[in-house]
Amino acid sequence: MKQDSALSTGTGVSAVANKKQFNIGICGMGTVGGGTFTLLQNKQEEITRRLGKVLKVTHVASRRQNPAFDTSNIRFSTDVFVLAEDPSVDILVEAMGGMEPAFPLIMRAIENGKHVVTANKALIAVHGNEIFAAAKRKGVTVAYESAVAGGIPIIKALREGLAANSIQWLAGIINGTGNFILTEMAQKGRSFPDVLKEAQALGYAEADPTFDVEGIDAAHKLTILASNAFGIALQFEKVYTEGISKITIADVNYANELGYRIKHLGIARMSEKGIEMRVHPTLISDQRLIANVNGVMNAVVVKGDSVGSTLYYGAGAGAKATASSVVADLFDIARNSGTANAGTVPPLAFNSLRTDVPILGIDDIECEYYLRISAQDKIGVMAQISQVLMNHGINIEALIQKEPDHNATGDVTVPVVLLTGKVQERQMNKATAAIEALEQVVDKVTRIRVELFDGDGN
Ligand code: HSE
Repeated sequence: MKQDSALSTGTGVSAVANKKQFNIGICGMGTVGGGTFTLLQNKQEEITRRLGKVLKVTHVASRRQNPAFDTSNIRFSTDVFVLAEDPSVDILVEAMGGMEPAFPLIMRAIENGKHVVTANKALIAVHGNEIFAAAKRKGVTVAYESAVAGGIPIIKALREGLAANSIQWLAGIINGTGNFILTEMAQKGRSFPDVLKEAQALGYAEADPTFDVEGIDAAHKLTILASNAFGIALQFEKVYTEGISKITIADVNYANELGYRIKHLGIARMSEKGIEMRVHPTLISDQRLIANVNGVMNAVVVKGDSVGSTLYYGAGAGAKATASSVVADLFDIARNSGTANAGTVPPLAFNSLRTDVPILGIDDIECEYYLRISAQDKIGVMAQISQVLMNHGINIEALIQKEPDHNATGDVTVPVVLLTGKVQERQMNKATAAIEALEQVVDKVTRIRVELFDGDGN
């Protein structure tokens, strides 16, 4: 059906002072768009009471009508660009994901003077610099709270709540699907594909779930977090990314024995040499709060020089959690649009971005390591491994040697599991190669980084 023209501004430009109603167009009616639509419909009265203005969905665009949503009084289009050209829409919510057609759609909406709210972390991480520049030229806002850590207001916290701080580091579980998989493996011994299928059915996983399990989704989010933390341009291509698909139940169990949990962490750190941005499976002491963040929940620890270490926790995926952040962005735009506050919170937290800090390569980082080595059950193997580590200046902090494994061909191997002291990755690469070259070592060394949070954190 047609939109209610009496409610339309008809101006096509959002920056109108004292607007009492903001017309919302939603592109994409999947998990995010559908969740946002439902929230706005169900809570209209309370939203108006809180905001003092009306947020009204007036136009919805998606490939097909979804009978789950009553759009009978709302304009419907199958072409999202029709919505971007609709002069009555003040704020376009991009809830489709992916680059095409989301990128040209958002650029078109900006060109047409519309504010944009997007949950599209990939798009912001890769094209955000261009998008924000276009938005600045047109005097509109592009808001993206829901792109990172679902319902947790982490962008708001970094940009506003922690504005007085120099951020030293942050570390987060920022992919709900991956955390769900690791938790189910650790707690119930379930297989990887089985849990992934459930995460897809629950609407947590990306359209291409390798984005979740290989850390690409987390790298998109980390890119955005690092820019907001340190005031640098978005640089997704510089994030080191390693997935969880090679994590075995055996590693999960050995880590447990040593007092650790394996989590898929995104870590950004400012050091004297430059900025670290990395996503990889990580051992964290089971005493840390973040080690106990399970299922689809996300958490981000942020260490500021003034506030110290702070922890943000909540659902990282799913319709309701994501809609919570989308609607919070709609509030901000509706509150500020056309007022003196418009544009006072820069999209990447800082009015001017730093260009003088290098992003460090993974070889330059320093941390502790978990090593699992499969060796023949022969006298002197342990001594040889220790010797290699000693030759490379690497300390052994903890060690367990398990009972021998008898494989199908009758070979007997022993798993040797150890934790090292702090060492530069470049040096660890050399030590790993030397261990793998030992005659008695029968397989590739499994190596997982350990994060001690500089002795800080929650
Ligand atoms: N696939 C993402 C996740 C969705 O599992 O966290 C939320 O960004």
